[in-house]
Amino acid sequence: MKVLVIGGGAREHALCRSLSLDPDVSALYCAPGNAGIAEVAELRPVDALDGAAVAALATELGADLVVVGPEAPLVAGVGDAVRAAGIPVFGPSAEAAQLEGSKAFAKDVMAAAGVPTARSYVCTTPEEVDAALDAFGTPYVVKDDGLAAGKGVVVTEDIEAARAHALACDRVVIEEYLDGPEVSLFAITDGVTVVPLQPAQDFKRALDGDQGPNTGGMGAYSPLPWADPKLVDEVMELVLQPTVDELRRRGTPFSGLLYAGLAITGRGTRVIEFNARFGDPETQVVLARLRTPLASVLLNAANGTLADEPPLVWRDDAAVTVVIASHNYPDTPRTGDPIEGLAEVAAEDAPDAYVLHAGTRREGDAVVSAGGRVLSVTATGSDLAQAREKAYTAVARIRLDGSQHRTDIAAKAAGLG
Ligand code: AMP
Ligand code: GLY
Repeated sequence: MKVLVIGGGAREHALCRSLSLDPDVSALYCAPGNAGIAEVAELRPVDALDGAAVAALATELGADLVVVGPEAPLVAGVGDAVRAAGIPVFGPSAEAAQLEGSKAFAKDVMAAAGVPTARSYVCTTPEEVDAALDAFGTPYVVKDDGLAAGKGVVVTEDIEAARAHALACDRVVIEEYLDGPEVSLFAITDGVTVVPLQPAQDFKRALDGDQGPNTGGMGAYSPLPWADPKLVDEVMELVLQPTVDELRRRGTPFSGLLYAGLAITGRGTRVIEFNARFGDPETQVVLARLRTPLASVLLNAANGTLADEPPLVWRDDAAVTVVIASHNYPDTPRTGDPIEGLAEVAAEDAPDAYVLHAGTRREGDAVVSAGGRVLSVTATGSDLAQAREKAYTAVARIRLDGSQHRTDIAAKAAGLG
């Protein structure tokens, strides 16, 4: 099978790594990719948001499957363009991707499907904003309705900060604050059959102890030793299957990866958000634990034959990933700094620990930073404590001027405080 992956972050590196290890995959391409993905896939330049260009590339390559990684191309209809060219796509249509593209749309689907989520108001005027902030009280939760690369949500005690964020957006969702640990649960679906993956936890705040601004994600781990063993079944029944059924009922079936961001509150599990694609950095740890070869699962989801897929098989291992981010991330990050230590990790820590590239590019012989999140250092071990130790040992070998990473990824879950 020839597979083309669209995107160029650590999530796509994790996808390409798994696909490159799958004996069913005879050729693997990634567009546009990054310096790390180039080691496992053949890179092609493309504007990932240009459906016609992606469809032409997939046709030229004779791809049997196109996997669209990030949300922006999905929302822009890149999946539709490739499907119209007769090539199976893992990833939803633009209409179904509105589940991530518009928080107001997601709330509407959840209400229709009876999916538990935070109570909310959609606001377009300052008066509506003030009324909604007043109705819910602190902490205020203010969400840009549209795509914002993980940076559209402000959670604050400060009414002026809440107002300022609301006024900076055209349309906002203001909602009740959900208290409790967060879980990311991914499911692969063909629009009818839903296959859950293993749950993971993401660390959204920039600094240790969940301080600092929200980011795209600074680290993740899986499994979750503290979670109720019935969690996956419960979320399947209350959230994932009803959502997939509701989108099919509306005539906009969702196929691809349905990502439920959940809060485990004292009053039960609630959806914080949906995403329409694999999460980053959770994918890095979830795929590290998946034993089943990935390509046929994704192809069956693309073809509507997921019910034929045998049950997924998981490793007993735990996995931890730690994101190394540029100086000044998540504000305007500094780029172009050389990254050193990659060869040492490959020599000393592989195969248990490895580096997945996010914002990197090659400059002559050097690999340099090219984005906010630069690398995801991922490791597996017999338990979280061991996986964590291996991940941080590898992190310590990487040198990138001004870079930052959290030192507490998976610490609490591993019983270390
Ligand atoms: P989202 O982009 O919707 O996932 O929001 C980003 C982060 O903001 C989430 O992972 C939560 O940490 C936080 N957040 C979003 N909505 C809520 C809420 N209703 N209550 C508490 N925290 C929230
Ligand atoms: N890990 C959060 C996201 O992918 O949106």
